[in-house]
Amino acid sequence: MDSVMSAAKTQPRHFLDLDRISAAELRGMIDQAAKWKATRDRSKPLKDKIMAMIFEKQSTRTRLSFEVAMKQLGGDVINMTSGDSQISRGETIADTAKVLSRYVDAVMIRTTAAAKLEDLAANATVPVINGLTDQSHPCQIMADILTFEEHKGPIAGKVITWSGDGNNVATSWIHAAVLFGFELRLACPDKNQPSATALAWAKREGGKVHATIDAHAAAKDADCIVTDTWFSMGTDPKLFRPDVFAPYRVDEALMACAKPDAIFMHCLPAKRGEEVTAGVIDGPQSVVWDEAENRMHAQKAILAWCLA
Ligand code: CP
Ligand code: NVA
Repeated sequence: MDSVMSAAKTQPRHFLDLDRISAAELRGMIDQAAKWKATRDRSKPLKDKIMAMIFEKQSTRTRLSFEVAMKQLGGDVINMTSGDSQISRGETIADTAKVLSRYVDAVMIRTTAAAKLEDLAANATVPVINGLTDQSHPCQIMADILTFEEHKGPIAGKVITWSGDGNNVATSWIHAAVLFGFELRLACPDKNQPSATALAWAKREGGKVHATIDAHAAAKDADCIVTDTWFSMGTDPKLFRPDVFAPYRVDEALMACAKPDAIFMHCLPAKRGEEVTAGVIDGPQSVVWDEAENRMHAQKAILAWCLA
């Protein structure tokens, strides 16, 4: 009985993907983030908590925003790259998870295959946070929801248009559409359509998620246009086809299809002249700097939820 009790007690609260967390819990995190941001709260709910961060890919925002968030909440972080740990010499993710769980209170990982994230979570006895995989980027979309609502009010019932590659960030947008109750239209080239698994899940859940190849039709009367790089980290450079993506560039003409007060979002880093024109990303409808700042606020709420 004792061992059952202690096993139950050690079940960690992972933040792996939005479709694995209830709508009420996600809404609670957004509301908490907005409250802490508004009040510039400096209480230290995570005093003395330590999080390890493993980076198998590059990062500016995720690394910095998690570090600042954790420190402002009273905790601290330890940064690791796979190259400077024994992972690069073949130590398994499972063994790494078991060892890190003896030192730290949470682990964030940015990695390639989602299977590695799963392996880490299955073997860790502390919460694991998805800081991006080839398949999804849930922390980013929490910041995006916070940003949208700051500028446009409740996202439920609104129309968001994604124009570009049907990539990892697009998948987390699909999950969010169902859980936050907005319409999502994804315009992507024929061979770069969003995850069929995520689309099928959204359909089963009764979400308003539509995939198309027509960017201008998808942008009609939208409240927000979103895009991302045409060339995600880890993509084979031989497969990079700017000509195929050109019709999906977010330019002034595409923004003009949306509502006159529509906003533009991009998770960054951006390539001006590829997925977005300088006029749009640096123009009056762009909220990308608020969006980048909100990584920190949204992640404070995620950390508090995981470590509560
Ligand atoms: N948007 C985002 O995740 O940025 P980084 O790659 O800089 O972390
Ligand atoms: N889709 C991009 C997001 C970067 C934050 C990538 O995976 O490189």
